[in-house]
Amino acid sequence: RTKLIIDTDPGVDDAFAIALAALSDDVDLLGVTTVFGNVPLTATTRNAQRVLALCKRDDVPVAAGAERPLVHRQPREARPVHGSDGLSGRSAALPEPSRELESTDAVTLLASLLEAADEPVTIAPIGPLTNIAALLAAHPGLASRIGRLVIMGGGLAGGNTTAAAEFNIWSDPEAAHRVLAGGEVPCTLVPLDLTHRCAVDAAWLGRLAASGPIGAALDALTPDYLAHYRKALGFEGIVVHDAVAVAEAIRPGILRTAPAPVRVECSVGPARGATIVDRRPQGQKADTDGLTGGPFTEVAVDTDLEGLREFLLDRLAGRRA
Ligand code: BDR
Ligand code: CA
Repeated sequence: RTKLIIDTDPGVDDAFAIALAALSDDVDLLGVTTVFGNVPLTATTRNAQRVLALCKRDDVPVAAGAERPLVHRQPREARPVHGSDGLSGRSAALPEPSRELESTDAVTLLASLLEAADEPVTIAPIGPLTNIAALLAAHPGLASRIGRLVIMGGGLAGGNTTAAAEFNIWSDPEAAHRVLAGGEVPCTLVPLDLTHRCAVDAAWLGRLAASGPIGAALDALTPDYLAHYRKALGFEGIVVHDAVAVAEAIRPGILRTAPAPVRVECSVGPARGATIVDRRPQGQKADTDGLTGGPFTEVAVDTDLEGLREFLLDRLAGRRA
């Protein structure tokens, strides 16, 4: 059984990702921590609580974390992508939270869950990396309790928020740099290049909606997100970025990965938040370019696309794939 914590900023695809873990009976979902991102922290926190209530998981503690990035200005939100409340304006259709929010903050909950764990814990950060950077800075001794981080973020061929940067990395580049360059914890990075290829179409969403009340409730969160992808990509479907990362967290190896040093551009300018992935053969690297000498990140590069879509559908429909 995978012991898992999700750090998240729901967000439609975050909602799918949380449900994926919450409905998988081979996963110990130890907790969910929230961060600013797609919408402000109060909304992401409420959304996370409601998705867990939908999945009848009031055993899972939720704690709220950072409401702004580590260093720079207030972030840009993603309301045009995920809707006014982060869930296509439909969050009120979800059940009310069935468990009180933890009185401690996200870093404190993360630390106490890691301290209590008797085996390594996987953390899936699927929003800005602010909480995770703060955790590693405040509790360096706990890094060894984290088996790996499976991060949704980055783009090798460019971004979705700026020409250079993907939303999660762009939202807090200093935090992402801290986590990816720090080298304390093995990281798997699931970038846009792969998540876009894993997009699910209207027929897939129709099957989800028909699978039962939870599937129908998740499908009902998608109208604004669908409209975004219709406009942005001319595609009748959605990109479930974060669910692709959580699939790898709960079924290690479902994505094919390749090791490479990854660095984050933190200068203020057009490249801010870009992920620089060094794909040169290792032997050719000069050790003067700041990229060599590790740490290496496992970058997700490929998967069985149809197999992944069926895995997601089976789990979201409450079937054990
Ligand atoms: C990432 O940004 C957010 O809008 C999504 O939830 C996902 O985590 C994709 O770039
Ligand atoms: Ca997200």
